[in-house]
Amino acid sequence: MVDVGMTYPNGKVALADVNVEIPNGDFVFLVGPSGAGKSTFIRLLIREQVPTTGSVRVAGRDLVRMRRRQVPALRRRIGIVFQDFRLLPSKTVAENVAFALDVTGAPRSHIRQRVPQLLSLVGLQDHAHHLPTQLSGGEQQRTAIARALVHAPTILIADEPTGNLDPVTSWEIIQLLIQINELGTTVLMATHNQEIVNAMRRRVLALEGGHLVRDEAAAAYEREY
Ligand SMILES: Nc1ncnc2c1ncn2[C@@H]1O[C@H](COP(=O)(O)OP(=O)(O)OP(=O)(O)O)[C@@H](O)[C@H]1O
Ligand SMILES: [Mg+2]
Repeated sequence: MVDVGMTYPNGKVALADVNVEIPNGDFVFLVGPSGAGKSTFIRLLIREQVPTTGSVRVAGRDLVRMRRRQVPALRRRIGIVFQDFRLLPSKTVAENVAFALDVTGAPRSHIRQRVPQLLSLVGLQDHAHHLPTQLSGGEQQRTAIARALVHAPTILIADEPTGNLDPVTSWEIIQLLIQINELGTTVLMATHNQEIVNAMRRRVLALEGGHLVRDEAAAAYEREY
């Protein structure tokens, strides 16, 4: 992102003068108080919104100049998970994951092979035929992560993925994200979870009032100097 600003139509300045580069393979925490602009930052990366100023490049693509018809291809390069899981309630774990492939026209043979592979990566091979209502929060989030990985994205973006989970389950989800990162996927995670950020000592981007106030490697949740 270069000189990025985002002002919503109502005049609210959600981001201003944001400059940041995230190399492939990084693991980055995005922190800051409520309203600081974290979700807006993420919406720009997935081109849910176009910045008012500046430029955004993801996976080698210029998102400001990008045509609408190119957005689906971009979204396949990016996996995204949210605090509230957003699973399809009438579909099983396996069907939720398979559906994400099906809608992009993936061949059945590929789906049959890919879904079990992803479910075992996230530890849900024994829950493939459960409905979301039959799963714990952590299992629902694992399903959402498996779904986000269907197209082997270069970057996985998580907006408060542990926001609805208890501390133990939150740690399990973080371990899974670390594992995914170690397999080569860039991970960006917005979070309010101080304990996790402090324990992991990864790169921290801190937003305050729409400004990037800190970009520090191997950092804590709060400034230490
Ligand atoms: N669609 C919108 N229209 C107008 N203002 C918005 C819109 N979305 C967000 N905002 C405002 O932009 C600012 C940044 O919001 P954003 O959701 O990015 O914050 P956040 O850091 O994700 O907060 P939280 O930690 O609560 O999720 C806030 O003041 C918010 O009210
Ligand atoms: Mg948010």
